Amino acid sequence: MSANSASPSSRLMSGNRCSLPVAVFIVLVCLFLLQLYSLLPQKDAFKLDPQIHTSRRFRELDEVDEENIQMPPPRKRSPRAIKRKPKRPTTIIDEFLDESSQIRHLFFPDMKTAIDPNKGNGSFYYNPGRIWLDTEGNPIQAHGGGILYDERDKTYYWYGEYKDGPTYHAHKKGAARVDIIGVGCYSSKDLWTWKNEGIVLAAEENDETHDLHKSNVLERPKVLYNENTGKYVMWMHIDDTNYTKAHVGVAVSDYPNGPFHYLYGKNPHGFDSRDMTVFRDDDGSAYLIYSSVDNSELHVSPLTKDYLDVTNVVSPILIGHRREAPAMFKHQGTYYMITSGCTGWAPNEAMAHASESVMGPWETMGNPCLGGNEIFRETTFFSQSTFVLPVKGLTEYFIFMADRWNPADLRDSRYVWLPLKVAGPADQPLDYEFGFPLWPRVSIFWHKRWKLPFRWSE
Ligand SMILES: *[C@@H]1O[C@H](CO)[C@@H](O)[C@H](O)[C@H]1NC(C)=O
Ligand SMILES: *[C@@H]1O[C@H](CO)[C@@H](O)[C@H](O)[C@H]1NC(C)=O
Repeated sequence: MSANSASPSSRLMSGNRCSLPVAVFIVLVCLFLLQLYSLLPQKDAFKLDPQIHTSRRFRELDEVDEENIQMPPPRKRSPRAIKRKPKRPTTIIDEFLDESSQIRHLFFPDMKTAIDPNKGNGSFYYNPGRIWLDTEGNPIQAHGGGILYDERDKTYYWYGEYKDGPTYHAHKKGAARVDIIGVGCYSSKDLWTWKNEGIVLAAEENDETHDLHKSNVLERPKVLYNENTGKYVMWMHIDDTNYTKAHVGVAVSDYPNGPFHYLYGKNPHGFDSRDMTVFRDDDGSAYLIYSSVDNSELHVSPLTKDYLDVTNVVSPILIGHRREAPAMFKHQGTYYMITSGCTGWAPNEAMAHASESVMGPWETMGNPCLGGNEIFRETTFFSQSTFVLPVKGLTEYFIFMADRWNPADLRDSRYVWLPLKVAGPADQPLDYEFGFPLWPRVSIFWHKRWKLPFRWSE
């Protein structure tokens, strides 16, 4: 390499003295033209940047941002208020949950900073935690969501809870809630510009006995495409206000953008089922993963061939770990999962898990979060996992999707999308059992602002 590349330049050096400035000039002109070319809009979607740009962009994904959130100075309290309620130490999480916190804008930046594909110049930057507008200029309503890439029309579909209604408590001890409105669906070719496809599964207004009656709970809708039947199958968590029903619900459609037809809800295998997800493997087999036995463990069950039901095979995993919000993905033949702890709407520490089989046994590897600061890492960047999205053309990276819940106004909950990578030596596994191989590390990198290392077309 060095021998070959040395010869042209040494020839140039030994030649006419005038040729050196000329050559430098030509090189500069070439660089300038290259730069101009790189600024031109490119026609093909999913086109990789020239090699040099690409490797830098990939490197940028791993270069985390640091954060230095400070507790605000304590507010002045009247002597009477102090007497009534003695001062207790507040934490950053208390501040996060406090609607009137002086640092609320750090967690929930206002509309002025919204990601707006209409106003923007196609910047394609993700800004975790900011309001994200659709192509009509409205905040995207797809909470607890998941994304389906539809091979047939080469489009991404993002499904999630449509929560654009008032937040209230059904009774004194009830959790903050929004009545069921339905499942929102958004489509995109570039994973950044999202068009509202409407509510693809709507609440039931009148029939109080219906699973989708607005007084109930519909969470974490996920959609799979079934190649055997040509149908789109939606799985979701269905519950009553008090979360005592703990059902999974199933709906089906002929089209990715609905309308979906609700089939039924039930306790899978007779167990309670709260937070859940579905996972489709390369061979077309699919699985339901649900938190069960009062959230103390997860259950995995293969779906039937048409994806409309669970089979009667079920495997309890991570027993006693108390994990929820599962998001499963596969990388180079190994299965991975990100989960959260169970602390209601308050954020907590994520864990990464790995297994050679979807059915387990699963090993817990530790906290995947990198960057921010300690409190960012211990709260999953103030958010909760919902999905891990494989991206066409990206091999080592995935998009980690999470919800930054806003229990004071759930419709204003934010999306936290970050690059996730499987590579490098793992930390010490948390529950190492003899016989597990050494998995690579799962890392989620904090960025205030980042973009995919692709150039997109309009
Ligand atoms: C285009 O987007 C970039 C990145 O967000 C921003 O810095 C710049 O000001 C925008 N320019 C215009 C004209 O909107
Ligand atoms: C939920 O719990 C509250 C308090 O225990 C009770 O008053 C209410 O009837 C319950 N609602 C349902 C739908 O079970």
